[in-house]
Amino acid sequence: MHLFILLLAPALFFVFHILLRLGRATFSSLKDVPGPFWTRFTSLWYFNRLRHGRFEYENIRLHQQYGPIVRLAPNQYSISDISAIKAVYGTGSQFAKSAWYDGWKHPAQWTVFADRNIKRHSDTRKRFTSLYSMSSLVHYEPFVNDCAEIFNRRLIEFTENKKSFNLGHWFQCYAFDVIGNITFGERFGFLDRGEDIDGAMAALHKVMMYSTMIGVYPEWHPRLFGLLSKFKWSGAGGRAYISKFVQEKIRLHETESKDTEKGESEHIQTQDFVDKLLIARNKNPEKVTDYHLFIMGQSNVTAGSDTTAISLSSIMWHLLQNIETLYKLRAEIDDFTAKGLCSENVKFKESQEMPYFQAVMKEALRMHSATGLPMWREVPEGGAEISGRYFPAGTIIGANTWVVHYDDSVFPEARSFRPERWLEAESNPEKLKEMNQMYMPFGLGSRTCLGKHISILEMSKLIPRLVRDYDFTPLRSDWKTENYWFVKPMDFDVHVQKRVKSTL
Ligand code: HEM
Repeated sequence: MHLFILLLAPALFFVFHILLRLGRATFSSLKDVPGPFWTRFTSLWYFNRLRHGRFEYENIRLHQQYGPIVRLAPNQYSISDISAIKAVYGTGSQFAKSAWYDGWKHPAQWTVFADRNIKRHSDTRKRFTSLYSMSSLVHYEPFVNDCAEIFNRRLIEFTENKKSFNLGHWFQCYAFDVIGNITFGERFGFLDRGEDIDGAMAALHKVMMYSTMIGVYPEWHPRLFGLLSKFKWSGAGGRAYISKFVQEKIRLHETESKDTEKGESEHIQTQDFVDKLLIARNKNPEKVTDYHLFIMGQSNVTAGSDTTAISLSSIMWHLLQNIETLYKLRAEIDDFTAKGLCSENVKFKESQEMPYFQAVMKEALRMHSATGLPMWREVPEGGAEISGRYFPAGTIIGANTWVVHYDDSVFPEARSFRPERWLEAESNPEKLKEMNQMYMPFGLGSRTCLGKHISILEMSKLIPRLVRDYDFTPLRSDWKTENYWFVKPMDFDVHVQKRVKSTL
């Protein structure tokens, strides 16, 4: 009898859940929104597709099949058209980040990237936005110079030993070292060793996988995180590792620079990010707390290394697959160099003056954006009209940058890498406006990327130099990528030679 009751209880619970799901699917006001069959009843379909790490392509295909709104889970819809993008991500939007982002933080903490509290997020951003501004780049450029020089030395070694190597991995070493240098005034040393020191890259990769997947069932995150943090192999363990790593770097930095206040005006040219934060904290400890120091340092490491490395890979990959574009860019850089407008270690300001280079960078980030999943947001109180449909409050909707960037009506022949499209559009302001509104490699609106200028600085200083001074040969005409939020190339193997400059 007891056994019967013991078995009956879970069976009833199971049946209740099935009925609940069927009921919701039948009576939902959004029941006629199209999408794969199982998405009406369960999030498992989406979970399973994410697991394969190719969701950017699947998401594009789904929109081609079903139109501008596609159901991906019972209360979750992928959106794609321009009016929807403006409504959800536009300035002043009240669409908070959804619970999917909870998986991107410690369950008991908040961070700038994952914060779902609109007010607190806006306060935090206001406090720190100047650290990421264009005017701050002047202070960061010397840190990037160091890394560009070492990257160049490594390339010379590769030209000498004639071995092939994974350029994507070396971009990751560069991006990690730059972000370490800018944030903590110290490179991590990846460029020296070319290997994953202390497993930091692997830890970050695990964080990506864990957060991407757990975000589908965010209610499980607080339950699993504590337990999984104990295991190094898990994504939760990876997060715990990165947190400790950042705390340690800040602690060391603080002990080494006890004289920060004294040096405030003296070494302004070489202030790193933590220097700036320490000065602000010492001036006003209530406004800038130790917790702020920690979360901002951590955001830089987690949000700022893989993203930049992927974007660097995207630029070089597309140039190497489109040799005429590469030569056209090279001609521009040669011309600037010949006129004395492009230094050996290219200056940020110089790169800003190169129109074709700017168009190449923009187009490469359109073709292969670093993030490749919908940026989920929650419909606010009162509901919202999106793409001609009413979505009740609490519905989760989001646009995937890849879907938006592969919209042929905005970017004709969207699968072609054509930097010229940006230059041509300059004579058609309406068209350019539309393209820019749908261009979102750095996100949009109030949650747009804080580190955008820093990453553009990193790319602008490296790419012109590589294009001008080296000949790269890719070992394959297609590459494997893995999408766990970041769409990371896995096998960008190349040979490199010093460029032989024509004397004609
Ligand atoms: C090419 C390189 C980069 C790309 C493509 C990129 C892309 C993005 C995107 C798409 C978002 C918005 C995500 C969302 O709405 O869910 C974002 C947010 C963010 N990024 Fe980046 N990022 C890059 C580099 C960086 C760097 C170098 C840093 C730091 C130095 C950084 C720090 C951040 C932070 C802190 C946020 C959260 C902003 C907020 O929620 O207010 N990113 N990034």
